[in-house]
Amino acid sequence: TRPRVWVSQPLFGDIVGRLREHFDVIETAAVGKHSQDEIAAVLASCDGALVTLNDRIGAAEVANAPRLRAIANVGVGYNNLDVPALTQAGIVVTNTPDVLTETSADFGFALMMAAARRITEAERWLRDGQWRQWSFETMLGGDVHGTTLGILGMGRIGQGIARRASGFRMRVLYHNRSRLPADIERDCDAAYADFDTLLAQADHLVIVLPYSTAVHHIVDAAAIAKMKPTATLTNIARGGIVDEDALADALESGRLAAAGLDVYEGEPAINPRLLALRNVVLTPHIASGSLATRRAMVSLAVDNLIAALGFGPRAGDPPTPVNATELSPSPNGRGVG
Ligand code: GLV
Ligand code: GLV
Repeated sequence: TRPRVWVSQPLFGDIVGRLREHFDVIETAAVGKHSQDEIAAVLASCDGALVTLNDRIGAAEVANAPRLRAIANVGVGYNNLDVPALTQAGIVVTNTPDVLTETSADFGFALMMAAARRITEAERWLRDGQWRQWSFETMLGGDVHGTTLGILGMGRIGQGIARRASGFRMRVLYHNRSRLPADIERDCDAAYADFDTLLAQADHLVIVLPYSTAVHHIVDAAAIAKMKPTATLTNIARGGIVDEDALADALESGRLAAAGLDVYEGEPAINPRLLALRNVVLTPHIASGSLATRRAMVSLAVDNLIAALGFGPRAGDPPTPVNATELSPSPNGRGVG
């Protein structure tokens, strides 16, 4: 019998259709969040799954899924998956890095600029019919060119944002768990700073840090208090990195000029305090959302799933695994892989 795979969301049919060459495919007709029980029930009869950040999968969801061998996440971040637990269960996990780097960097830069220059606030004002009130002081914002950009998390996307900043003659500081090699720092024209220096000197702080519990609320009230009151804060990583109530406090009191948010702690729910503020640009988790890139992400996830389940030209060798090292067979022949 053919292996069976689950596709958790409606995704580009022409791309996902490639799975049918090898597998029986359980598709999902409508968008919506699956309950943990629904996920466990569908995985029970599956060999593989193609999932997105809306699907949380850990030990409980795979406990009754003896055939499950691979989960392909459509997305670079995989904090929706309990990778240690899935590795323990012998399940290959893959993600979609690289294909979304430049598109996400474009969006991070755009969101930062929109916050600094009050673009969405100005549009709402115009649509509200207020142009007659226009004065020379209407919608004054902060400059982007020639200022200091602070990048928190200097992975591929952070480096892409840094490269964009050079055209705006910005000074670029970054903070990262580990310092980048000198040639990459030179290529990005970016200088390492400790976290406090980054906060204190950034005119625009952009957060592009992978989420883990270690960085939960790393941007909290104390961190925001170290920022300039004229600064902006942009988050395209994961909502849990920023304490949203502390951010709302700062935006309400003028402790911070503006924010651009693409990710939220409880998405799709949004903190009502943020919704009530004018000086925050809110977008619905679309940083990687160009048509070409979203198609490339799904295509890479399909390639990963086919290969991880032992089919296609890269059988057994998925292009972008997350836990390959942990799953490789040990020299004494034990282990899974
Ligand atoms: C989106 O947030 C992703 O991680 O790809
Ligand atoms: C994601 O690809 C990152 O490294 O920032």
